[in-house]
Amino acid sequence: MTPRLRWIEHLSPAYALSVALRRDVLRKPLGLEFTEAQLGSESNSLHLTAWEEDVLLGTLLLTPLDGGSIQMRQVAVDDAKQRLGIGRLLVAESEAEAVRRGFSRIMLHARDSAVGFYLKLGYRPVGDEFVEVGVKHQEMEKRLQGP
Ligand SMILES: CC(C)(COP(=O)(O)OP(=O)(O)OC[C@H]1O[C@@H](n2cnc3c(N)ncnc32)[C@H](O)[C@@H]1OP(=O)(O)O)[C@@H](O)C(=O)NCCC(=O)NCCS
Repeated sequence: MTPRLRWIEHLSPAYALSVALRRDVLRKPLGLEFTEAQLGSESNSLHLTAWEEDVLLGTLLLTPLDGGSIQMRQVAVDDAKQRLGIGRLLVAESEAEAVRRGFSRIMLHARDSAVGFYLKLGYRPVGDEFVEVGVKHQEMEKRLQGP
């Protein structure tokens, strides 16, 4: 199975599905919900999704920062579809899109449990661990090579 990747619009029907997936994979296990303000603030982010037919398998956000960096956030793959290469595909497409848009660096806040995933994809830890949404995190980054 090779998932189809698609960039989607904020507040589109596909975006609603991606929020539901993020809620299931990232928020519910922590007993948290998204606020209207959080979702509203995602209008300035790029939204990537992975599909098998019309079933959403995974998603992530890219949020432009100042100084040539872009932040990868909310990386989530359906619990039943993890470890099948979908996360790797989403990250690879994100890096390609970031380069196309002229960014030279991707940074992210990795949950402790996901640090090994990002290490495999060439990200390196920056600074000390910290706590976010009640979970230990590590900032990580990757410098991007232009074409
Ligand atoms: C973390 C996550 C996005 C990875 O996506 P995925 O589709 O499961 O990962 P892939 O199958 O593409 O894995 C790529 C490589 O990373 C490894 N890997 C995947 N998840 C890993 C993890 N949590 N820890 C260590 N290695 C991991 C895979 O084994 C694979 O290695 P290989 O190429 O040697 O076989 C996904 O498991 C997920 O949604 N987890 C729950 C939510 C979460 O933690 N999101 C990240 C928040 S920062």
